[in-house]
Amino acid sequence: MAGSLLITRIGELVTNAPADAGAHGDGGPAGGPGGFAAIEDAALVVEGERIAWTGPSARAPAADALVDAAGRAVLPGFVDSHAHLVFAGDRGAEFAARMSGARYAAGGIMATVAATRAASDAELRAGLRRLVLEMLRQGTTTFECKSGYGLTVPDEARSVALAAETTPEVTFLGAHVVPPEFGRDPGRYVDLVCGPMLDACAPYARWVDVFCERGAFGADEARAVLAAGQARGLLPRVHASQLGPGPGVTVAVEAGAASADHCTFLSDADVAALASSGTVATLLPGAEFGTRQPYPDARRLIDAGVAVAVATDCNPGSSYTSSMPFCIALAVRDMGMTTAEAVWAATAGGARALRRRDVGYLAPGARADLVMLDAPSHAHLAYRPGVPLVQAVWRSGRRAGFGLATAVA
Ligand code: NIG
Ligand code: FE
Repeated sequence: MAGSLLITRIGELVTNAPADAGAHGDGGPAGGPGGFAAIEDAALVVEGERIAWTGPSARAPAADALVDAAGRAVLPGFVDSHAHLVFAGDRGAEFAARMSGARYAAGGIMATVAATRAASDAELRAGLRRLVLEMLRQGTTTFECKSGYGLTVPDEARSVALAAETTPEVTFLGAHVVPPEFGRDPGRYVDLVCGPMLDACAPYARWVDVFCERGAFGADEARAVLAAGQARGLLPRVHASQLGPGPGVTVAVEAGAASADHCTFLSDADVAALASSGTVATLLPGAEFGTRQPYPDARRLIDAGVAVAVATDCNPGSSYTSSMPFCIALAVRDMGMTTAEAVWAATAGGARALRRRDVGYLAPGARADLVMLDAPSHAHLAYRPGVPLVQAVWRSGRRAGFGLATAVA
């Protein structure tokens, strides 16, 4: 195999693919992720940007280059399907106040909006790139990035344009909160979002999102925003029931959203609606950690048959973490997920929440996005919380260089 790479002696290879998927080493079309699955004492072959073969080490074909994993675990790169990375400013004092008893409220977003509007393009770009590198270092190879801290036509347009420099998964979130200049007339802001703002932003975005919550946007406003985005070819996703019960999941399922995100306060009807829909419930435990709210009940959702993703919600207000391993640890410790469910949710689940069939799993045809842990199994991500276990990352078949130890073997 010309230009191929064999990674062998993998202690545990998480594939999220059926056991026979590695047999079809013909580089055919991607099959998309399945349920959690892993192979022990495994190997895999990368050719160009794609996985060409997976299977037991003993049956590995020869390749041009060799990496000896020496018993370490290899996983699909993490898919962080919910992040707000275009912003300026710092809200560390707000976090500190919460840790001494203050409540989180949607209004804090305006502090970041003021700093973001005042920042230059270069400052915003530098902050964004720093976070993207931080994510890559922690094993994230696909991420979504929202606007939502500009809230004027030019400030939202530059946010989505900057985000589009770093990822194809750009989400327009002009409907994050109603900025104070529209305080007495939120309807006029919704009209701006649904008209000129979307006209300026849709060319850079794949997704349209709305914060459907008390203090942000109600059900009818959320429906209007999603419909206006869909009319311009964007696909819907919704911030739903983060701070209390509400109509967010209903709105998301009605719109055929790829994902309803947060899902912290769900009614039985919300859970049933998600279970009978194609909408993924994306859980964001960093936000509960950062706001001292109760964690969402992943067990209840999974037992009802809902597809669950785990993502960081990286943002300067509620969840200033870029770490998928940290979120996996929280999901296992505090949301009732098994280690396998949490890893699936952070890889294949995120891919489903972004309607991607090329990432989140490792089988012939999948994008060669890999994380090698300095640990023997995926369970260590939760078992050893806060430890920088990510030893090496490959994105589209290329080893990411960010100052990690170069000797992998
Ligand atoms: O997902 N919920 C709305 N947006 C963010 C919080 C943003 C902020 O506080 O700046 C979230 O938690
Ligand atoms: Fe969010």
